[in-house]
Parts: sequence; C-alpha cells; structure tokens
Amino acid sequence: MAAFTPTGRRLTAVKAVVFLLALVPLARMVLRIRAGEVVEPLEFLTRGTGDWVLYFLCLTLAVTPLRRLSGWNWLIKLRRMLGLFAFFYASLHFLCFIWFDHFFDLQAMWKDVLKRPFITVGFTAFVLLVPLAVTSTNGMVRRLGGKRWQWLHRLVYVIAPLGILHFWWMKAGKHNFTEPIIFGSIVALLLAFRVYWATAKKVPARA
Ligand code: HEM
Repeated sequence: MAAFTPTGRRLTAVKAVVFLLALVPLARMVLRIRAGEVVEPLEFLTRGTGDWVLYFLCLTLAVTPLRRLSGWNWLIKLRRMLGLFAFFYASLHFLCFIWFDHFFDLQAMWKDVLKRPFITVGFTAFVLLVPLAVTSTNGMVRRLGGKRWQWLHRLVYVIAPLGILHFWWMKAGKHNFTEPIIFGSIVALLLAFRVYWATAKKVPARA
C-alpha cells in the first residue's frame, strides 16, 4: 500500500482540520447547555472535559504505534497538537473543579485535593502535564536537547495511567467499572507497544 504523505499545504490543511475537530466537543457541550438540554450543566461540563482529557491522552499515545504500523510518518506532526489539546481540556476540567466545586477558594480546593484520593491522583496528573505543555515548543526542544526533552516527555507514560486511576476511583463509588476497564485496556495496549519495541531493540544489541 502506498503511504499517504501530505506535505506542505496539504499537511497544513490536515492540521487545521484536526484543530477544528478538537474544538467540536467543547462547542457541543456549550451548545447543549445553552439549548437547555442538560439537567446538571456544571457536572456535565466537569465530566465532559474530564472525558476529553482522557480521549486526547489516548490519541496522543496512539500516534507512535499508528505511525510505526502504518508507515504514515507524517502523523508525528500531529502529536504536539493532540498533546496540547489534552492539556487544554485538562485545564478546563481543573477550572470547572476550582470554579464549580470551590468557587475559587484555593484553601478549600487544596483541602479537597488532599482529602479525596481520586482528586489527589487527578491533580497529580494535571501538575505533571504542565511541564510537558511548557516545553512543547521547538525552542524548548532545542534548549533542553533532544535526549533530555524525550526523557521529560516520557512523563506521559505516568500521566495516562494516573488519569485511568483517577477515573477508576471516581467510578468505584458507583461500582461502575466498564469505562475505566475499556480505557485502562486502551492505555495498557498503547504502552505495551512501547515496551515491546524497546525490548525488541535491545535483544539483538545484547546478542
Ligand atoms: C490528566 C488529568 C485528568 C484526567 C485524565 C481526568 C479525567 C476524568 C474523567 C474521565 C472523569 C469522569 C468523567 C465521566 O464521568 O465521564 C473525571 C471526573 C472528575 N475529575 Fe478529573 N481528570 C483529570 C484531572 C483532574 C483534576 C486536576 C481534578 C481536580 C483537581 C479533577 C477532578 C474531577 C472531578 C471533580 C470529577 C467529577 C467527579 C464527579 O462528578 O463525581 N480531575 N476526570
């Protein structure tokens, strides 16, 4: 199969489409609330943004396996945008929490972060996302150097499981594990590809 390789203007167009598509969930949430279709808008926004953090984390982690399996190397050019959208939705999710749950009372928010384990885990995942977002520019890759930058960005391998744990813990209260199991399996599979490729690379070197 000939590899589909958009370059130049086509790649810019693909990026623009992905950018617009990534904003659709937010627009849909806002429109549904404005249309009065939602019974509990604050909970709906908090949960909706939380879901999209997880989806974008999965999409970001899917880029490398998809690229390697399909030969579509250009997919790597979408990875930064997908990762930044994970951070964007995480920031909105966090904003919902401090606004709707604590009305910007930072002391109360902090107490809640320390008191409820599922919030502690979500907060940790969010804090770890910050350095990745800050160092996502080409300038920062140059300043850190490729190797150090790569090591830092491996934090995503911790962030995604923490996101799953956060989701799992939240759903545990309702004994509803279906979605955490589905997303946990997706994240596990996406990470398993990395483990497999990393060990497969080492075996001939040792031999
Ligand atoms: C990488 C970071 C995070 C991810 C992936 C994530 C993901 C999620 C997901 C998937 C949900 C469930 C949505 C649903 O019911 O369908 C959720 C709910 C929630 N998250 Fe997060 N979250 C993250 C960070 C945070 C942070 C930083 C906070 C606050 C400090 C937070 C607070 C909450 C709250 C309050 C809920 C709703 C609980 C409820 O309605 O009972 N999350 N999150």
